Amino acid sequence: MSGKYQAPKGVSEYFPPNSNIFESIIRKLENISLAANYHLIELPVFEDTELFTRGVGESTDVVTKEMYTFEDRGGRSLTLRPEGTAGVIRAIIEHGLDRGQLPVKLYYHGPFFRAERPQAGRYRQFYQFGIEAVGVDDPLLDCEVIAIANSAFHGLGLRDYELQITSLGDDSSRAAHREELLKFLAKINLDEETKSRVAKNPLRIFDDKREEIRAIMQDAPLLADFLSSESAAKFTQLQSALTSLGISYVINPRMVRGLDYYTGTAFEFVHHRLGAQSGIGGGGRYDGLMRSLGGQDLSGIGFGLGLDRIILALQSEGLVDLKNTQSGYLDLFIVPIGESARLRAVTIVDEIRRAGFVADMGYGDRSLKGAMKAADKLAARNVLVLGDSELNSNKAALKRMSDGHEVSVTLDSLVAALKSAL
Ligand code: HAM
Repeated sequence: MSGKYQAPKGVSEYFPPNSNIFESIIRKLENISLAANYHLIELPVFEDTELFTRGVGESTDVVTKEMYTFEDRGGRSLTLRPEGTAGVIRAIIEHGLDRGQLPVKLYYHGPFFRAERPQAGRYRQFYQFGIEAVGVDDPLLDCEVIAIANSAFHGLGLRDYELQITSLGDDSSRAAHREELLKFLAKINLDEETKSRVAKNPLRIFDDKREEIRAIMQDAPLLADFLSSESAAKFTQLQSALTSLGISYVINPRMVRGLDYYTGTAFEFVHHRLGAQSGIGGGGRYDGLMRSLGGQDLSGIGFGLGLDRIILALQSEGLVDLKNTQSGYLDLFIVPIGESARLRAVTIVDEIRRAGFVADMGYGDRSLKGAMKAADKLAARNVLVLGDSELNSNKAALKRMSDGHEVSVTLDSLVAALKSAL
């Protein structure tokens, strides 16, 4: 039965047992990031609209079509964050985080918002885990960032995905390519909207999904063929570093990322079983972003991984066993019978939880049968029934639910008994 209210269209939501998977993915990414010396940055979910129009870029779909922009009560234009990098750079500048040791290494996770047409794997509120390493321009750092994403995917068990990399070059590479690309595009009859897009950023046309444009672009000059010797050397170093870590990749010279700030290394992780929304994560280097937001001229690199799509990818590879994640995390369920037992159960559950176990008890006015059913549904590993006779004898039967095996334990030594039972 559905209630009167529904969540807004196209948002992703997580509740048990799926939320356990969601949380464990974040935990894995956090541990891998911490091990590489990245630390948490927690930022507002809304920022000045201009941060995104400047940072993400006016030629992008994200800025022109997908932002949730609103005026607050003070008449300021604010926007729900469509991505994380612009906010991180804003915070680094504002709080002078770039005055210390470089690179500044940060990670973040949370909800992001884009008013896209909802479909499987594409949501209006979605979740990302991201990292940014700011202040050092070194292909080995690019490799580190890519390797963190790769080991997270691999550690989660994902296999059917591909890492695609390219280089978007430096200013001189892009200027040389731009000239040739514009010459090529001048020969084609483009509609007005596409023309104005191309005028803002000609690379955007590589992103066009229309069949006829894609066919034309088969012959377009590729940025990869216009890399300056410095950009080409960095790209080669990145590849050697990836190879030395045993990370396989394919070069995709047609990749253009959906955000305007990218320069140099760009990458995407594509999962083969997700259909149209196959990007489970992507990122790259951004040379001019910090300067354009009013900070020092420091380069940075980072990624954003789509947590919703990672869950879909895990499901598609048969790696999500909900029964497994649900069972086994409740170590003990206590079924109290009568008022004195209920009170005693409160202190026992408290003691067990403090000892590091997961414990719960039957609340409300339940029959023994109803409480046992609850224990079963919760997939408790052990159950203890507590009534007057147990209180009087200070002893109770600890029942292991997997095989029904029972041991008699004194109520004061439950923690020790649980330790040996589990
Ligand atoms: P992005 O490629 O726009 O990059 O998004 C990163 C990931 O977020 C995508 O690969 C995808 O998995 C997920 N994602 C994006 N939009 C949606 C959506 N509507 N529904 C579900 N998942 C989605 C960025 O956001 C950059 N800030 C990444 C970055 C960090 N680059 C440098 N540093």
